[in-house]
Amino acid sequence: MPHVVIKLYPGRSAEQKKRLAREIVKNVKQIAVCEEKSVSVAFEEVAPEDWVESVYRPEVIDKKENLVITPGYNPFVKKDRSEEVGGKTEFRIRSYQASDQPAVIDLWHRCNLVVPQNDPRKDIETKRQVQTDLFFVGAIGNRIVATLMAGYDGHRGWIYYLAVDPDDQRQGFGRRMMEWAEAALKKRGCPKINLQVRSSNPAVISFYEHLGYSNENVIGLGKRL
Ligand SMILES: CC(C)(COP(=O)(O)OP(=O)(O)OC[C@H]1O[C@@H](n2cnc3c(N)ncnc32)[C@H](O)[C@@H]1OP(=O)(O)O)[C@@H](O)C(=O)NCCC(=O)NCCS
Repeated sequence: MPHVVIKLYPGRSAEQKKRLAREIVKNVKQIAVCEEKSVSVAFEEVAPEDWVESVYRPEVIDKKENLVITPGYNPFVKKDRSEEVGGKTEFRIRSYQASDQPAVIDLWHRCNLVVPQNDPRKDIETKRQVQTDLFFVGAIGNRIVATLMAGYDGHRGWIYYLAVDPDDQRQGFGRRMMEWAEAALKKRGCPKINLQVRSSNPAVISFYEHLGYSNENVIGLGKRL
């Protein structure tokens, strides 16, 4: 009687879950050789901030003997900075790639950039269709510590999702991400960058002022389409 439980970050639609469940039932039936009626599938959503203690530690570390596929990430490696001492492992900026998704979303949660009206997965997927080369991550070795999503609409450049891991802030990484994006936008012919700061995040205004941005006293308006 196989019962399959899938633990995952929130954000997948009911339709995605149904499709996945149907495929799982099909495979369990064929490969584990059992009747379809004996298979059940359940989903448990776990918030990124609870993942390590609710899933990674109890299921991946403590039940190693049950694990058939070991994940390619280890949240505890983050705390081990021995490789980075003395600048041996440099901060490098590159374009976003699909395998970065979990680390990027985790970083956005850690930086409080995820708000209820925006689905980070959708935002990433949409960006991967439009000017995908303007979505950057900053990494130290394999560890993603910064992101920046930029765009050029033919008149102005825009910046979104600038984030530096709270453990790595105030080391110049935010400035380097911005300078990288500015250079990429300039190369496309962009003459000016606009950006919006949430009124709930006034601290970041000083950061932008250090980089030469100024408050233009405009009011940002928006409309969902
Ligand atoms: C904003 C953010 C990206 C800055 O990254 P960072 O790596 O800490 O910034 P840097 O170390 O490159 O700082 C660049 C300059 O800004 C200054 N600065 C950075 N954060 C500052 C702050 N909160 N207040 C005042 N000055 C600040 C630094 O002193 C530095 O000045 P200097 O280069 O003239 O010495 C980071 O704080 C962050 O990710 N915050 C959470 C997410 C967020 O709010 N994103 C912006 C959305 S609009």
